Amino acid sequence: MSRGLRFNVFRYNPEDGDSVPHSDTFFLDETQSMSLFIALTRIREDQDSSLQFDFCCRAGICGACAMMINGRPGLACHTLTKDLPNEITLLPLPTFKLIGDLSVDSGTWFRSTHEKLESWIHTDKIFNPQAEEERMDNALAEDIYELERCIECGCCTAGCGTVNMREDFMGAVALNRIARFMLDPRDERSEREYFEVVGTDEGIFGCMGLTGCEDVCPKHLPLQKQLGVLRRKMAWSAVKHWFRFR
Ligand code: SF4
Ligand code: SF4
Ligand code: FES
Repeated sequence: MSRGLRFNVFRYNPEDGDSVPHSDTFFLDETQSMSLFIALTRIREDQDSSLQFDFCCRAGICGACAMMINGRPGLACHTLTKDLPNEITLLPLPTFKLIGDLSVDSGTWFRSTHEKLESWIHTDKIFNPQAEEERMDNALAEDIYELERCIECGCCTAGCGTVNMREDFMGAVALNRIARFMLDPRDERSEREYFEVVGTDEGIFGCMGLTGCEDVCPKHLPLQKQLGVLRRKMAWSAVKHWFRFR
C-alpha cells in the first residue's frame, strides 16, 4: 500500500501587494521512485497551477531546483520522497532574492559574485582560435575538473551560517571558484592578486570552518579541503607581505 504524503509548502508572491507569506498544505499518494520534482509537478498539474518552483534538467545538472527540504538545502529532482518522512516541509532557499513560492533568483547572485571575483582566466597571452589547445598534465586537469563540477545550485550558500548572518560573506562556492583558478597554470594572477580578492573577512578569513557547506553539497565537492588550502595560502601570503613592509 502506498504512503499518503503531506506537503507543507511556503507560498508568497512579493510582486502581489495582497500576498502574505503563509504555508499551503497538499496531499498526495506516494508512487514508486517519486522525486520531489515529480510530487511538485503533480501538485501543480492537479491541485494548484499557481505554484512556483524552478527546474530545468531534472537530472541534478542545472542546479535550478534547489530548495529547503525539511530544513535542509537540497535538489528537488534528486530527492526521493521514500527517503523523507510522510510530512514534508518545503521552503525557498534563504539568502537569495525570492521570486515567488519556492523559486529564487540565484542567477543574479552568482553573476555578481563571479564579476566581483573576476572569475575567469587572467592572462596576457593573445587568444589564437587557430592554435592547438594547450596540453595539461592529466592529474592536474582532473584536480581542476573536480572543482569545476559545481552546478551553482546555491545549497552551500543557503546552508552556511555565515552567509545567513552576513550578506557580504562570499561563501564556499565563491572561495571554491578562486581555488580552481589558483590551480590553473593558465591563470597568471600572483598570490598577492588572489589575496586582494579573497584574503579578507568577506572572503576566506570570514569562514568559520564548520563544514555546513560540504555537508549539503549535492555534488559532494571537497569544499572543506579547498577552504583549508586557501586559508593556509592566504595566511602565508599575509605573513610574507607583513615581513616585506615592516
Ligand atoms: S565552512 Fe565556511 S563557507 Fe562552509 S558553511 Fe561554514 S562558514 Fe560557510
Ligand atoms: S559547491 Fe556544491 S552546493 Fe555549492 S553551489 Fe556548487 S554544487 Fe551547489
Ligand atoms: S532540475 Fe536541474 S538540478 Fe534539479
